[in-house]
Amino acid sequence: MPKLDTERAAHLVARLSTKERIRLLSGATMWSTETVGDVPSVSLSNGPNGLGKQASDADHVGGGDLIPATCFPSASVLASTWDEPLLERVGAALGREARAEGVGVLLGPGLNIKRHPGGGRVFEYFSEDPVVSGRVAAALVRGVQSEGVGTSVKHFAGNNQETDRMRLDSVIDERTLREIYLRGFEIVVRESAPWTVMTSYNRLNGEHTGESEWLITRILREEWGFEGLVMSDWMAVHDRVQGLRAGLDLEMPGGPGVWDDRIAAAVDDGSLAADSIEASAQRVASLALRARAEAESRPRTYDREAHHALARETAAAGTVLLTNDGMLPLHPRASLAVIGAAAEHPRFQGVGSAAVNPWRVDTLLDALRDRANTTYSPAYDPRTSEVSDTGLAEARDAAAAADQVVLVLGVPGGAEAEGVDRSEVTMPESFTILVREIVRANPRTAVVLANGAPLEITWADEPAALVEAYLGGQASGSALADVLLGDVEPGGRLAESFPIRTADLPAARNFPTSGGSRTQTQYREGLHVGYRFHDTFGVAPRFPFGHGLGYTTFAWGVPVVTVTGTDVIVEIDITNTGHRLGSEVVQLYVHDPESSVHRPDQTLEAFAKVHLAPGHTRSVRLALDERAFAIWDVASSRWLVEGGRYEVRIGASSRDIRASAHIEIESADRVTAVPGPIGPVADDHEFERALGRPIPAAAGILPFTVDSTIDDLRATWFGRRLHSMVSRMLERQLPAGDDSMSAMMRAVISGMPLRAMVVASGGKLTLDTLDRVIRVLNALSR
Ligand code: BGC
Repeated sequence: MPKLDTERAAHLVARLSTKERIRLLSGATMWSTETVGDVPSVSLSNGPNGLGKQASDADHVGGGDLIPATCFPSASVLASTWDEPLLERVGAALGREARAEGVGVLLGPGLNIKRHPGGGRVFEYFSEDPVVSGRVAAALVRGVQSEGVGTSVKHFAGNNQETDRMRLDSVIDERTLREIYLRGFEIVVRESAPWTVMTSYNRLNGEHTGESEWLITRILREEWGFEGLVMSDWMAVHDRVQGLRAGLDLEMPGGPGVWDDRIAAAVDDGSLAADSIEASAQRVASLALRARAEAESRPRTYDREAHHALARETAAAGTVLLTNDGMLPLHPRASLAVIGAAAEHPRFQGVGSAAVNPWRVDTLLDALRDRANTTYSPAYDPRTSEVSDTGLAEARDAAAAADQVVLVLGVPGGAEAEGVDRSEVTMPESFTILVREIVRANPRTAVVLANGAPLEITWADEPAALVEAYLGGQASGSALADVLLGDVEPGGRLAESFPIRTADLPAARNFPTSGGSRTQTQYREGLHVGYRFHDTFGVAPRFPFGHGLGYTTFAWGVPVVTVTGTDVIVEIDITNTGHRLGSEVVQLYVHDPESSVHRPDQTLEAFAKVHLAPGHTRSVRLALDERAFAIWDVASSRWLVEGGRYEVRIGASSRDIRASAHIEIESADRVTAVPGPIGPVADDHEFERALGRPIPAAAGILPFTVDSTIDDLRATWFGRRLHSMVSRMLERQLPAGDDSMSAMMRAVISGMPLRAMVVASGGKLTLDTLDRVIRVLNALSR
């Protein structure tokens, strides 16, 4: 495989003038970089679970005309497989499709932590846990890049909500950052060497991430050894000159080089080193050369049917069987009532830049009708989830007349969308009524959920079985039929906790849909994210992290644990004691009983998925190194391991520990003792101590700055006039027809900072004019 050709890139860049080098540093179009001298252009395209290539430059959030591609399951499903070899195969398929369409870099995977289930892009991310996030992402990256196509791991970092995402300041203490929010990125960078990393929209502790030398140069490049290119998220750039100082190589998308003059002026007056320009231009050139060399040395074809089959296999492997009293798999010859419009109009992907235009969509209804004696009743409107009286009556009758029932609940499309956080984390009321009525009509009911993120499921124990299918991609219908009929097992385990009440989560205290500031989010829950919260404070989740049932049974042996210094090997025999092929996910958690700093009760540090035929045994080997025991010591800015006693817990979920062992870890590190938080959410004093500085005041809406959003304009009389003018202009560009897409685009537009208008206007609005407009706006607001 052609490697990074840094020498040739340096040679090509050396022949360019400063002006030409600067041209390389921002895109040529929405989806490509510039061709300058002998440096070729490289084409970039979404997305994380299927190629989202736009035929035109229309927009950057999936509203334009996408070319047909295979829609693989969304990130929640991919993570729920816990199956790295499978995900490498998915990655390779994504890579082949990208290559066939001339795409050099695929913009994904996204691996931000699921801090709160209401996050609008939670469906697009993997897990609440950094080890799962990092390893799943690394497997996908290895797969894509094995086909000669680059990836862009995103969004680096602290981008865990959609509301005001383009100017929000995520206030996160360093230990939490290192142990939760950066760790997944560290894993993917170290394990799979992505070609590129995409910085996020938000600020992190006051700095725009694309301007943070600490994040991009100190941590990403110097500490983790990242050698690739760093690009901005689309229209995220706030101060390009500072971005270049920090190490942000490429601004995306392109426009007519709106920053070029300011960059040149900064080089001239010495406030920006010419070396920064050269280094970034070289990285752009290396990327482009590599992409071209790969493209020229490989075929541009792929087997569509094989990719569909892989999408189907993956959807089943990531489907999580949450409860089952033995009703599933369905009885093959008994009559079956399929209820729920999502069986006919599947919910299989979220809204936004991860969207794919599938070349084929399988429905559950067709797949079941082909194989079972099936009746069908839609019961609700798939766009609104409303259940009419006649719909309900028909569904009830159909349920009562059948031997067994599958009720599919597809959460309406707009509910899971980029750009919009969800205030509703509850199941639609109409669905709750429907479930109760159908279960009453026929207790042999299996409920299937098609949604992107955890919901509060108050009736979870009522149906005979409950299946979380998430957003399973274009083959989700046939994959679900495979699982329900027992042709394959539901292989998924939750990579996130399902809370009983979302409002009880510590992050809920500082999440936009439940209050808080428009310009700042304080991560006062610190390390208490997901199961780390539930397990530390004894708050039961509805379904725990790691949970998922199968159709066979397993016996777990006695673990053998070998310790050498800070390296630990755990070996355990797993035997399939049932009558079907099945898989088990062996999860290894570390518990530190005697730490001098506060730690969550346990943290997942290793896992492995085993597939076993009936009667077969496999020895599963899990390796831990020092990082499994380390904490980030803020005082010395290092990872340190406290020597002493630890417990390794081996389980089938965070709440289903099957075996454990106490071990002694030898280490001479001295961790700085810090008093721990008493509750799940830090008070002012505790948060200041964790931050090591006073809690920063949230910026107000006034005075206006380049970071003020279009929505902020409404704060003043003159601003309101400008707001309605701009809104009318932008409204005309919204896609016709698709409600969920238009609603998402509206949210994206109202959260757009004024500075993004410069790129969006294609250069008609200049940076200087914008500065003048802001001065006028502020003058008139007094
Ligand atoms: C998203 C990115 C995406 C980019 C290009 C942004 O709005 O945050 O994830 O890759 O647009 O579509």
